[in-house]
Amino acid sequence: MKKLLTIAATLGLVYITPVTVQAGPQEDLKEFRAYFAERFPDVPFQEYVNGVYAIDEASREQWESIEEFPPYELNIDKGKELFNTPFKNGKTHASCFRNGGIGIKQDYPYFDPDSGAVVTLEGDINACRQENNEEALGWSKGAIADVSAYMAYTSRGNKIDVKTPAGKGAMAAYDRGKFHFYSKRGQLNLSCADCHQHNAGNRIRADLLSPALGQVSHFPVYRSKWGGLGTLHRRYGGCNKQVRATPFPSQSDEYRDLEYFHTYMSNGLLLNGPGARK
Ligand code: HEC
Repeated sequence: MKKLLTIAATLGLVYITPVTVQAGPQEDLKEFRAYFAERFPDVPFQEYVNGVYAIDEASREQWESIEEFPPYELNIDKGKELFNTPFKNGKTHASCFRNGGIGIKQDYPYFDPDSGAVVTLEGDINACRQENNEEALGWSKGAIADVSAYMAYTSRGNKIDVKTPAGKGAMAAYDRGKFHFYSKRGQLNLSCADCHQHNAGNRIRADLLSPALGQVSHFPVYRSKWGGLGTLHRRYGGCNKQVRATPFPSQSDEYRDLEYFHTYMSNGLLLNGPGARK
């Protein structure tokens, strides 16, 4: 088999070697980290949580001064208030979560064998509200991002630790997310990996492309372009649109699976959300 592969590789027939196809999450993660370690040998692993500012000295100083008076501070306060405002039945959001919802963002996303689907933090916030006969919040920005920002804030410094439990369901979700990440799409025919892995550190128009490693650690994010806070799925939608592909709805199966893979790839990094970006 090995010999056959070598021959095929020499002939340029092997696109993705069977090794990669069969690789499990752990091997993927090792490869993914090694890729960035080689591409940016001077960037310490934990620095990747800072996105593009981990690799761009020029804009880092400006960003650091923004973070001194963070534009998302009000959102954390609003999120905290909403989180603690009793529902009509007297309970609060805290009643739905482990540890009263404090410092638990690293539990997300997770695969739920009962529903056979990936569950995100925002998904559980709205599930909590609906279980308590409260209205669900809109998915991408506004109140849900505020609550998510508050919960992220209480989780700063905790280690990303997405699990991929044995069994078909979780692995299938992981594989679908991985497939999305590496699939070319849109009129520009580019994958997430084309921009955020193979061209990380290069410029596309005026923007320097951030490494995919660590991209999830600081969400939700306050963007000056948005004039407010947005969830990770809002950002996914924006990146799909950049290549002129039709975005999927926030919290669609597609984006939840993508978040599952994308976050797994950042395992070991410390959460630092919410964040501020251009
Ligand atoms: C055409 C290139 C391109 C493609 C393809 C692309 N993005 Fe982006 N993305 C950008 C640019 C430009 C930015 C803003 C600068 C930066 O942080 O990289 C960005 C930013 C992001 C951010 C925010 C990073 C941060 O630190 O806040 C995330 C998350 C992200 N992209 C994920 C994705 C995912 C997932 C995909 C695939 C669905 C994708 N991107 C596809 C160009 C792209």
